[in-house]
Amino acid sequence: MDSSTTRPLNITVVGAGIGGLAAAIALRRSGNRVKIFESSPHNTEFGAGISLQNNSLRILNAWGFLRENLNSVSFDGINIRDAVTGEGHSVTFPHLEQAKAKAINALTCQRNDLLEELKRLAVGDNDCPGPPAELYFDSKVVSCDTEAGSITLESGEAVAADLVIGADGIHSTIRPSILGESVTADTTGLSCFRCLLDATKVADHPTLSWLNEGIEAPWNITTVEGSHFSSFMVYFVRKRELLNLVAYYHDRHREGKCPFDRRGRGASNESRYPGSFSYFSAEFETLLDLPTVPTTASPTGILRWQLPAMPLLSTWVKGRAMIMGDAAHSTLPTSGRAGIAIEEAVTLGVLFPLGTTGDEVSERLEAFQELCKGRGDLVNSESVARVDSTQKKTMSDRELQVYLVARDAIKTAEEYSRLHFDAAPSHGDVD
Ligand SMILES: Cc1cc2nc3c(=O)[nH]c(=O)nc-3n(C[C@H](O)[C@H](O)[C@H](O)COP(=O)(O)OP(=O)(O)OC[C@H]3O[C@@H](n4cnc5c(N)ncnc54)[C@H](O)[C@@H]3O)c2cc1C
Ligand SMILES: *[C@@H]1O[C@H](CO)[C@@H](O)[C@H](O)[C@H]1NC(C)=O
Ligand SMILES: *[C@@H]1O[C@H](CO)[C@@H](O)[C@H](O)[C@H]1NC(C)=O
Ligand SMILES: *[C@@H]1O[C@H](CO)[C@@H](O)[C@H](O)[C@H]1NC(C)=O
Repeated sequence: MDSSTTRPLNITVVGAGIGGLAAAIALRRSGNRVKIFESSPHNTEFGAGISLQNNSLRILNAWGFLRENLNSVSFDGINIRDAVTGEGHSVTFPHLEQAKAKAINALTCQRNDLLEELKRLAVGDNDCPGPPAELYFDSKVVSCDTEAGSITLESGEAVAADLVIGADGIHSTIRPSILGESVTADTTGLSCFRCLLDATKVADHPTLSWLNEGIEAPWNITTVEGSHFSSFMVYFVRKRELLNLVAYYHDRHREGKCPFDRRGRGASNESRYPGSFSYFSAEFETLLDLPTVPTTASPTGILRWQLPAMPLLSTWVKGRAMIMGDAAHSTLPTSGRAGIAIEEAVTLGVLFPLGTTGDEVSERLEAFQELCKGRGDLVNSESVARVDSTQKKTMSDRELQVYLVARDAIKTAEEYSRLHFDAAPSHGDVD
């Protein structure tokens, strides 16, 4: 393809979360002109943790991300403990061991470090076929014309493009224009709170010595009562200076019971944490005595969510517009959602190489849907089935884990592209 005679596509990305920034990187790397509109005035990301594995790290590596910028901690498997008895075991995953040899070792990091690194790759002045993406904060998108490929900002300004990508999260503004109706996420009955704990104070609490035992991996501290589970997922971030805690619980408040039945022990404060973890073994409950790190989003450093999930949607694409990431398939954060948004982004980069014409946009979007929707929907419904006993699981927990991590999205999209479209672009040196 002679790039001197081909006009790059103009692409509008709505939302500068992990999905939107990743889409901007992939499309820029294919030579397109990208504008990103983000409603918030600046990055307001709550500094919680995130884990990345093969499926997403392979892509970030191909994009030239600098691992050191993530201040990450590597991991090899998982430490599983029964929250009540403390019994359990540590499992090293063979696939993580193998991946390490190729510098794809799984990591945990803070989400804002990941966002900063994605931003650098999207808008930075680095060696890349496409110009830096233009990122506009404080630019809320209020409507989208899917046939014209245009969006309107709150200010009234309209922006025309060849393609509109709605990466605007669970409360997506682009989604209703794709579906022609409003479909919103359902509650699952599961809630969580998360916070960052000061890991430098671990030594002050002898009961927390387990944090320095086991293997270098997240802790899955879970207890199951009937169909309900309560769980602490705990891992180090920021080079082990901070501990990320996500606590899952069934929201008793929603069932008419008091959510705050914690027995007040030690320095912890009955109204500080929602949910009840008082029946957890003291060695785990003591985690709640560590000082939390306040954030701009929360002066106490504790944020609480009810965890909703999107119903499966009839389509993710229409005309010149599409949705991806949480806008399309937001589900429980118990399985790697961010990684799937990154896979979707790289798929777009492969499907929209320089030379793609405006007339080809809608067939390429159909290809995107064919490559990504089945997987997004499956991960969504399998995640929900793990907390809602009325939904049927189709795979074991282990099978789901392997299904999530084993995907090579670049290879899959390139093979599809070779088969269905003339040329598959090169995405650098990936095996
Ligand atoms: C509590 C919690 C914990 C999580 N933990 C994990 C985890 O451990 N591992 C994991 O893999 N995933 C986790 N996730 C999910 C993960 O963060 C997302 O799946 C991933 O970031 C992809 O999201 P996204 O970019 O599609 O949407 P979001 O991250 O929601 O980003 C959407 C962006 O669009 C912007 N926006 C919204 N509306 C508009 C508009 N009208 N105009 C302009 N901009 C707009 C928003 O301000 C936001 O910046 C968690 C999510 C939550 C809520
Ligand atoms: C955590 O442990 C529970 C109980 O052993 C298990 O059901 C669940 O699948 C585990 N989750 C992860 C992410 O390992
Ligand atoms: C409990 O926490 C709340 C909110 O952080 C705080 O206002 C209150 O002073 C705390 N109470 C005690 C006894 O520490
Ligand atoms: C992860 O990647 C490595 C290196 O490419 C590979 O050896 C390993 O099998 C992969 N794991 C999975 C589950 O795909």
